[in-house]
Amino acid sequence: MSAQSEAGRRLTPSEIRARKGGQPIVCLTAYTTPVARIADTACDLVLVGDSVGMVLHGLPDTLGVTLEMMILHGRAVARGLARACMVVDLPFASYEASPQQAFAAAARVMAETGAQAVKLEGGQHMAETVAFLVTRGIPVMGHVGLTPQAVNTLGGYKVQGRGAAGERIAADARALAEAGAFAVVLEKVPEGLGRRITEALPVPTIGIGAGAACDGQVLVIDDMLGLFAAFRPKFVKRYAELGRTAEAAVAAYAEEVRARRFPAPEHVFADEGETK
Ligand code: KIV
Repeated sequence: MSAQSEAGRRLTPSEIRARKGGQPIVCLTAYTTPVARIADTACDLVLVGDSVGMVLHGLPDTLGVTLEMMILHGRAVARGLARACMVVDLPFASYEASPQQAFAAAARVMAETGAQAVKLEGGQHMAETVAFLVTRGIPVMGHVGLTPQAVNTLGGYKVQGRGAAGERIAADARALAEAGAFAVVLEKVPEGLGRRITEALPVPTIGIGAGAACDGQVLVIDDMLGLFAAFRPKFVKRYAELGRTAEAAVAAYAEEVRARRFPAPEHVFADEGETK
């Protein structure tokens, strides 16, 4: 599958990297073709996040997401993108054991979806893996701070890097950049730490609850559209309330059906001639 659509050329990981310190990088998640088409109208980068497990599949966390799920959703998203750079998450247990395991998973994602890069979670302990992938032709986006795949060792979806713990997260981000990551996601860290890491790193930081100094921002699209009600991170601004709009539409439909106000075939199919 080609990473280039018929309609245009997608931004590349190198072009995203070159935006360091420049125009902020706009990023949203997408998991399906129609939503990818919408995100593509304004985004520089679209992430097929493993948040798909919670948002679309009703899982309690991201740990049950499989490589097959990521590939299926990745293929769907690729059909909807013409301009945005496409990154797919490596799911839990598909890459942590060794650089070789990570290469096997990432190679499948790249070959079977048309993604231009993969994202993986973890800091200094993943640097060797990042270098292994990058030197073998697979661009990597890092992810430090709150890493949801580690929710059980972190003890919840809490702010990371307060006080002295910030030094470790800064070192994690640095190690990923030195290993060749083209960008690093900073999730749920104090604004001051987000700024410090952004100023120190030679590659863009993409923040999610990490303050305004980051080189870009990513949000889960269903969160910012008001479609995902199960869990609402405090840092998410809702730009629409599509969940409420959809509930009102379903209620209006149910009322009409109960009142037997179905459209009459003679009226609907009038331009097709006689109905039977
Ligand atoms: O899975 C995901 O959607 C993510 C982003 C929120 C950064 O990793």
